[in-house]
Amino acid sequence: MNSSDKPIALVTGANKGIGLETVRQLAERGYIVYLACRDPRLGEQARKELDMPQADIRVVQLDVTAPATLVSCFNTLHEAEGRLDVLVNNAGVQLERLAPTECTEEALRQTYEVNVFGPVLLTQRLMPLLRAGARRTIVNVSSELGSLSLHSYPDFAFHRVNLFAYNSSKAALNAFTVLLAKELLAEGFKVNSVNPGYTKTGLNQFNGTRSVAQAAEVIVHYATLDASGPTGGFFMEGGPVPW
Ligand SMILES: NC(=O)c1ccc[n+]([C@@H]2O[C@H](COP(=O)([O-])OP(=O)(O)OC[C@H]3O[C@@H](n4cnc5c(N)ncnc54)[C@H](OP(=O)(O)O)[C@@H]3O)[C@@H](O)[C@H]2O)c1
Repeated sequence: MNSSDKPIALVTGANKGIGLETVRQLAERGYIVYLACRDPRLGEQARKELDMPQADIRVVQLDVTAPATLVSCFNTLHEAEGRLDVLVNNAGVQLERLAPTECTEEALRQTYEVNVFGPVLLTQRLMPLLRAGARRTIVNVSSELGSLSLHSYPDFAFHRVNLFAYNSSKAALNAFTVLLAKELLAEGFKVNSVNPGYTKTGLNQFNGTRSVAQAAEVIVHYATLDASGPTGGFFMEGGPVPW
């Protein structure tokens, strides 16, 4: 059991992109950060590339669609720390860019496996550690593409980005946020969805307009809320996003 007073965070899908930058920013704030990723070799490489010798960053294997790694990840944290303060459900995929009438069943199922079932099952698995933690904070990394309200406005900047699998998976993740926050309200949990914005990463062939630093700043803000912070919300830089 770790007796350190340092807060402990775990970030999924953290070997690259927004997840890796979130690890960097949490480590800069003094967190012990578990860099969770499918391939630990890529995780180690990413950790080295961060080049933060003073930081406490630990690589842990986690494929959010693989039940065995949900168990092994829980065991690693349980044995080393006995608690988890902050969970950032960041891992996500956008497998195809097809509209509702064209979306393939395979992509729909795979997208939901990673973007919906993954964070739900991981959160459930880690609940005993989160309950043992001091911060009780969960961030679900969502997208404005998951906003059903925005899609109903023709002047929404991404109105034409009508990707059924991805967009609906983020709407489902947002539903998890609202209902989980409601369930855990009395226990003092902060559960929020965060839209990092259109960010230059491999997810969009590096066409995004925001930097990973800007994207991670928003996530880290909601990952490090104090007791007076909101719960059950959907936020981006500058404030709330409509559901
Ligand atoms: N980029 C944007 O414009 C944007 C906008 C809004 C929301 N987001 C959200 O931000 C999050 C991070 O995306 P990103 O832009 O940083 O994309 P990215 O660079 O493609 O990174 C995605 C991460 O998710 C991991 N991942 C994929 N499947 C996984 C699985 N089954 N288990 C565990 N990890 C898995 C990837 O690991 P591998 O390297 O092993 O594949 C990678 O580390 C996603 O949830 C995305 O939907 C991004």
